[in-house]
This record gives sequence, C-alpha cells and structure tokens, in this order.
Amino acid sequence: MAGLKLLGLVASPFVVRVRMALSMKGVSYEYAEEDLKNKSELLLKSNPVHQKVPVLIHNGKPICESLVIVQYVDEVFAGPPILPTDPYERATARFWAAFIDDKLCPAWIGILRAKAEDERAEKVTETFAAIGQMEEALAKSYEGKAFFGGESIGYLDIVLGSCLFWFEAFRRMYKVEIINSSKVPLLAAWAERFGKSAEAKELVPEADEAVQYVNKRAAAAAAAAAK
Ligand SMILES: *[C@@H]1O[C@H](CO)[C@@H](O)[C@H](O)[C@H]1NC(C)=O
Ligand SMILES: *[C@@H]1O[C@H](CO)[C@@H](O)[C@H](O)[C@H]1NC(C)=O
Repeated sequence: MAGLKLLGLVASPFVVRVRMALSMKGVSYEYAEEDLKNKSELLLKSNPVHQKVPVLIHNGKPICESLVIVQYVDEVFAGPPILPTDPYERATARFWAAFIDDKLCPAWIGILRAKAEDERAEKVTETFAAIGQMEEALAKSYEGKAFFGGESIGYLDIVLGSCLFWFEAFRRMYKVEIINSSKVPLLAAWAERFGKSAEAKELVPEADEAVQYVNKRAAAAAAAAAK
C-alpha cells in the first residue's frame, strides 16, 4: 500500500509484533530491512530519540515503539480488533504488555548480553521470575481461554508470542528452557497453541534466525576486538 512503510530487522521480536498486527488487519506495506551497524538516514530521521526499529511510517508520519505502533495499527485500520474491546480487559492487556517490556524482555535480552557466567545466571533467574508471573496472570485473568485474546490471537499474544523464537534459540544455545512445561504448564500449552496458529507460522521467524543473529554479532565483536 502506498504510504505505509515498515523499517525493521528480521531477528527483532519487536518488529515481528508490528508485522503480525498489520497482517491481522490485512494491510499491505513496504518493508525495509535495516542494518543496525549502518542505520539508514530514514531511520535516524524517523526515530531520532531511540534510533531503533521498528518504525512504521504512515503517509510520511513516523510512529515508533512496537507497543505504540500495534495500538496505532489497531486504531487506524479496519478489521478484527487486536486489543480487547472491553475497557477493563484492555487495561489488563496493557498492564501485562508493559510488564513484558519492562521486566521480562530486559531479563531475557540480558541473558544474551551477559559478559560473565554469574551475570548470565542472574538474568536467567530474573527471566524465570517474570515468566512465573505471566503464568499466574494466565491462571487468574485468562483462565480457560485458548489465547490471551480469547478464542483467537490478540494483543498480548502478539507481544509475548513474538519472543518465542528467541526462547527456542536460548534452549539450543544455552540449554536454558525459559518456558518449561513442568514449571509453567499453562504458558507452555499457550506457547504450543500460539506456535500452531496461522499467524505465527506465517510471521514468526525460525529459531535459526535468532541463532544466526547471535553468531554474526559474536563474530563482529571478535573481529573488532582483534583489530
Ligand atoms: C551504509 O548504507 C548506505 C546506504 O544506506 C550504503 O550506501 C553504504 O555503502 C553502507 N555502508 C556500509 C559500510 O555498509
Ligand atoms: C524443567 O523443570 C524441571 C522441574 O523444575 C527440571 O527438572 C528440568 O530440568 C527442567 N528442564 C529443562 C530443560 O531445563
């Protein structure tokens, strides 16, 4: 569609959220892959504050930050609602989305960035704690529902589900099982349903994509250190 462009990165779960939201609304858009080592002028100009992807540019106007973009997409385009329509359910979904971005994501991304084993272990503990709280949320606020969104995928499913390919990569790379069915059975069952959904199959990358990203970064860091 003319007037809709997404600046992204294949391995970014935050970009996956936006792609899933756009797909749920059935809108087409132009996609541009960014090189984080050499960011485009358009990215720097569109998101001068964070200089990060995703950025959605709609009729020349940039919208930044994945949660904000998903909500914008939900409000602007026709199609099935992504956020719950009930105000209390919407507030609950926003609360947990903020929790995922403020607590869970920094913890699991911290596993990746940790420079020493003890730091990594600490981030693993923080990740498990946050995942445990998501399990409690599923038990209390989402009891009996197939998805956070109810019968079908909604806002929170996108927000958390976009991270699952990274969790699978962590299982392979670090032997850390973030969603362990003996510890968080509700979340494990949800993750399996999410993975089988048409939306996830179409738009969530394979774990290989995340593994390759890590290996590429490690190789670049090693090359820089050897200079
Ligand atoms: C950086 O990106 C620009 C285009 O945006 C390209 O012309 C240039 O060759 C790139 N530089 C490097 C070092 O990759
Ligand atoms: C999953 O959790 C159980 C129970 O705490 C533990 O025994 C098992 O080692 C865990 N699996 C993995 C792969 O971490």
